[in-house]
Amino acid sequence: MSNLMNRRILLGVSGGIAAYKSAELIRRLQDMGADVRVVMTRAAEAFMTPLTLQALSGHPVHNDLLDPEAEAAMGHISLARWADLILIAPASADIIARLAHGKGDNLLTTVCLARRCELAIAPAMNEAMWHNQATQDNLAILQQRGIHQLGPASGGQACGDIGMGRMSEPSTLASEVSHFFETGLLAGKTVVITAGPTREAIDPVRYISNHSSGKMGYALAQATVDAGAKVILISGPTALPCPDRVTCIHTSSAIDMYQSSMDHLPGCDIFIASAAVADFRPATIAEQKIKKTGQDTMHIEMVKNPDIVTAIANADPKPFVVGFAAETHDVIHYARDKLQRKNLDMVVANDISDTHIGFNSDDNIVTILTAESEQYLPKANKFQQAQRIIQAIAKQY
Ligand code: C5P
Repeated sequence: MSNLMNRRILLGVSGGIAAYKSAELIRRLQDMGADVRVVMTRAAEAFMTPLTLQALSGHPVHNDLLDPEAEAAMGHISLARWADLILIAPASADIIARLAHGKGDNLLTTVCLARRCELAIAPAMNEAMWHNQATQDNLAILQQRGIHQLGPASGGQACGDIGMGRMSEPSTLASEVSHFFETGLLAGKTVVITAGPTREAIDPVRYISNHSSGKMGYALAQATVDAGAKVILISGPTALPCPDRVTCIHTSSAIDMYQSSMDHLPGCDIFIASAAVADFRPATIAEQKIKKTGQDTMHIEMVKNPDIVTAIANADPKPFVVGFAAETHDVIHYARDKLQRKNLDMVVANDISDTHIGFNSDDNIVTILTAESEQYLPKANKFQQAQRIIQAIAKQY
């Protein structure tokens, strides 16, 4: 899978004949899984219509810094925050000069000033403009600031000249852009995560469940997507919002969660089972609300639920499988037993006898076990723990 899967690329299009190539560039970036939004300068609109780029990107094109309506929808700061990378292609001599001087005189330059992400430019201009000392000095300033320069190429130009200044081809640019995301620990991997509790229905209004908040699983989903993976989060009922860029599948019972996990097994590289799955469910679900009249006790016959993580770990081919072990005593002993019995590659063990950590709390202390190793992770919030767990998985995988 591509490094650009789920990556957010803000494509800046400035004025120049090479603006016609931006249509193709959007397609190439999308082919590699990127979500592309477009900002155009007014000069760019003389060469390419915003409507074309809107149709291709699937989103309105942004072009006005001073339009209150556009700013209310997604203003320059939100656009700058949204992007994982800003790519200006084509980058004219003029936009290069504006960037070098820190101008904020149009939407594109302002977004660049407000950005926190990497910025790459694909220069495109006539070869005399390219060789002009002013352009070369501006490029040197941008280079010193860590702005990436992609191209230009040499060859025939629209004006009839031959030389440096042709914008690199869209497929070359898309491939160069994908290299920016290579550092993601789990780039290109598909990770399926179960999270939260399950609900086992007794009748149409009642169920048996547990206190799992889902916080650990949701933090893992966020850390995994941040590591560059495609993430499918199969969640039982929780009060948590679906993390950004994660595909959330909402389930209720253990049987639902089992079915959804099996459905997502093909193509899954890593499976992380953090859900607190009910071990048993009522043997039958009453069709109508059970009445309390005439009985002082109640007997519910329970039957065993399928063990989701064991089923995944015994599939062929099997992904790298990580389970959780929440225990109140002999934590490491039981976790090690789980590692072997369930055929897991890794177990994340935590002690839930301390109510300040673990189940339904924001912090956690865990030990990561594999067949050969044991790594203790001191107390930290669940998001920090999630990042450490993802690092350990990436190392082991
Ligand atoms: O056996 P126990 O419930 O203690 O094992 C916990 C681990 O197994 C967790 O990773 C949990 O998500 C997973 N599990 C499962 N399906 C079940 C029960 C547990 O995937 N029915």
